[in-house]
Amino acid sequence: MIDRTLVDEIVARTDMQTLVGGYVKLKRAGANLNGLCPFHSEKTPSFTVFPSDGSFYCFGCGVGGNAITFVRKIENLEFTEAVAMLARRAGINIPQTALVSGGPTYDKNRFYEMNKKAARFFHNALFADTPDAKAALAYWIEKRGLSMATVKHFGLGYAPNDFSFVNYMKSEGYRDEELSVAFLCGKSEKGYLYPSFRNRVIIPVMDLSGHVIAFNGRVMDGGEPKYKNSSDTPVFRKGNTLFALNFAHKHCAERIILCEGAMDVIAIHAAGFPYAVATLGTAIRPEHARLLSRYTKKVILSYDSDAAGQKATDKALALLEDVGLEVRILRLTGAKDPDEYIRNFGAEAFRSLLDDSHTKFDFNFERVLQRYNLDVPQQKIEAIDALCTVIAGVYSSVEREIYIAEGARRLGVDAKNLAADVQKKIALRRKEEKSDTAKVAREILGGYGDRVNPDFVKAPRAARLEEAVLGLLQLYPEYRTRTFAQEPLLTEEDFVTELGRRVFCFLRDTANAGEEFDSAMLDSVFSPDEVGRISGMRVGRMRLSDNGEAVFLECVKELKAAKASEEAKKAPVTFATLDALLKGKREE
Ligand code: CTP
Ligand code: MN
Repeated sequence: MIDRTLVDEIVARTDMQTLVGGYVKLKRAGANLNGLCPFHSEKTPSFTVFPSDGSFYCFGCGVGGNAITFVRKIENLEFTEAVAMLARRAGINIPQTALVSGGPTYDKNRFYEMNKKAARFFHNALFADTPDAKAALAYWIEKRGLSMATVKHFGLGYAPNDFSFVNYMKSEGYRDEELSVAFLCGKSEKGYLYPSFRNRVIIPVMDLSGHVIAFNGRVMDGGEPKYKNSSDTPVFRKGNTLFALNFAHKHCAERIILCEGAMDVIAIHAAGFPYAVATLGTAIRPEHARLLSRYTKKVILSYDSDAAGQKATDKALALLEDVGLEVRILRLTGAKDPDEYIRNFGAEAFRSLLDDSHTKFDFNFERVLQRYNLDVPQQKIEAIDALCTVIAGVYSSVEREIYIAEGARRLGVDAKNLAADVQKKIALRRKEEKSDTAKVAREILGGYGDRVNPDFVKAPRAARLEEAVLGLLQLYPEYRTRTFAQEPLLTEEDFVTELGRRVFCFLRDTANAGEEFDSAMLDSVFSPDEVGRISGMRVGRMRLSDNGEAVFLECVKELKAAKASEEAKKAPVTFATLDALLKGKREE
């Protein structure tokens, strides 16, 4: 376990505004800061940072907590890893032994070393004096048209169709279990170790510092599956890794090319554009979008030209725009993917494609035009309607105006009418968005689909009181003192939900140990989602103007009564004061 005072110091030395500002564009709103939530898709900012106590909360999706929670969520890290990352940022040294938490932990350096040895083995195997090795090298050079320089640059390799890999790795001192956890080997039912990659050409994946962290293996014929890729390991998470970012990051400040596959990236780099990257056998995720936004201003999407690629383009557009990136789209005609395009038409043709990349509007407009026959009146009407939907989705009114003019010209209709139709669509969407937000709020309050606190729905009234009490306890030390005094006001028995009980015990045990409550410590015990919920209890009360002692005592009393009536399995009682207590007076 990490020492609590050390955690406190690390959190205290972390400036939330700078930390969060590295991922989210924040605007000042009174004492707080607002921005678009990085954890769900939204158009109006409900993500709030409270610099006064170093916390954050999203009123849209309920994610919240402190610096540690933020880093755990956004970087997908364990508690100890998040603390280590914040310590590094703050220039605080923490003893390596302090970072061991429950469950098996692996020495990352040993895994990097193990993967490096594996990568060397696969690379050297290309040059063995056997027919198999010659066929593998011929695959890279002849079939894929790569130069020897490219093969070496990317460290491409070959996994032989035998057990030599296992023998080699064992002779290097690696244990069966490590080799399995690293996804380099698997274990058969009979208990013997076999290599994960056999008779496949190998593409190693590197992290930003050049450590080998994973492998992709491709068949050389039409076999299935075409690709076999490493699963997540202690040094690899495919959800936040981009292939070739280790090469691209030095060349991508202005723009980056995002592809579907590693082979596309290799072909594009080889053609003289060293700023292409790809997700690894997975669709783009919000983590990828955030990662990209740290390295570049503009993403040129270069997905496959088939229907699946076009669908993936839609998804990528939404995620990339959410993080504020400018996005362009390549239109590949006459080829399935960039790799094939370059082989068919050459590097210069690809360069013109890059220079001539399309905006989202062009991309969507083209699609509308393709779908309808404008010579048929009914279809033209539908095309206009579809176009209005596209334009209504554009956030900037200046941009909308340009598109309306352009659309009117190309469809041969009056711009004023088109503008009016777009306005109608926007009004409709706003109405829908509002009712969406209300629906989410209702679901949270009603406890429907409540993953974080599944007990909530069983006794929603008592559970709401519980949250009010726990919110007040977090906010005010004097209520904690009173509650946990010699004759405690409340005991864990008074709580109806398991989460509420655990939060209560956590607060009580902290107080009894003579320590101050500090939201940063929540992360050592609760999951990030739970921390969000617990923050919600606190933030919920912070927004109310009356949190006085009378309110607190009344909440405690009502909670006990509600719990008692639950116990007696009576029909739910109505409490005259309940709504007033829970709603309080909203501070504007
Ligand atoms: N993919 C995968 N497993 C498969 C098929 C595909 O992981 N069985 C992933 C790979 O990362 C691949 C990407 O999906 O790069 C796109 O698939 P596809 O277009 O079929 O492959 P290409 O990238 O064109 O690969 P190649 O040129 O080698 O055929
Ligand atoms: Mn391809």
